[in-house]
Amino acid sequence: MDNTEKPIRLLQISDLHFGPPYLEQVGEAALRMANAQHQDAIIINGDLTQRAKRSQFEAAKQYIERLPQVPQLVVPGNHDVPLYRVIERLRDPLRLYREIISQELNPMLKIEGAVIVGLDSTAPRTAISNGRIFKWQLDMCDQVFSETPVGLARIVVAHHHFAPAPDHLRDSNMPHSKRAIERFSDLHVDMILGGHLHRAFIGNSLDFYPGVHRDRGIIIAQCGTTTSRRGRGREQEKNSLNQIEISKAMIAIEHFMYFQERDEFEMVSRHSFRRGSIPNAIPVSQRE
Ligand SMILES: [Fe+2]
Repeated sequence: MDNTEKPIRLLQISDLHFGPPYLEQVGEAALRMANAQHQDAIIINGDLTQRAKRSQFEAAKQYIERLPQVPQLVVPGNHDVPLYRVIERLRDPLRLYREIISQELNPMLKIEGAVIVGLDSTAPRTAISNGRIFKWQLDMCDQVFSETPVGLARIVVAHHHFAPAPDHLRDSNMPHSKRAIERFSDLHVDMILGGHLHRAFIGNSLDFYPGVHRDRGIIIAQCGTTTSRRGRGREQEKNSLNQIEISKAMIAIEHFMYFQERDEFEMVSRHSFRRGSIPNAIPVSQRE
């Protein structure tokens, strides 16, 4: 049976920031939208809280429980580790996340037609805001995707971004992000889903790092902040989410923004990508 015949629909939300920045009216609009449409899975790209407090995690958990009860994959963000509680930050930075949200910091989700790997990109001991991906996490991806049947969508989820947004704001990529992209490309990863930047962008890894597989870029779908007042750049004071449809031949990403006048999320752009490699995009003579 071909598992990719039926399109898969994913909802991608991120940077909820429960605590002072959380916008309840926007959060309710996102819930209405999520519950009004069919989803096969929901991806939450981290920063569930503003300051990793118990009450903030509990509010985030209650919110997640009100989302459609379909498979969910959640990863932590840098705001889910304490910033000022230094001893906790050093000793057990994701204690409350594990206790209240999920024990699994690097979750894997298999749904019909897709395998999704979540990576904990937080770096509480080495960075304030930026993240990192360890080699063992790439090895884990290697193990999972090397056992994944051809044809299933392969998706990596992390809070931090592997490629910069194409605007003029300064954001540091994670260290060694090119190494990670190269591994993902070797593993035929279709798409990377990220958050952290508080503004959406939808693009292709080849624009950031052509690497050795210039006939096979990885789709990058960054999600803005879905429910907080912390939007940046083109999404300053804005909120957004993405809806993703994966079929056998194509991946389509619809970018939704919240409009206060109508109190709802509405689609503002649609981005379509052909899945898999594009044969002969590079002359054979130039291949290694
Ligand atoms: Fe954030």
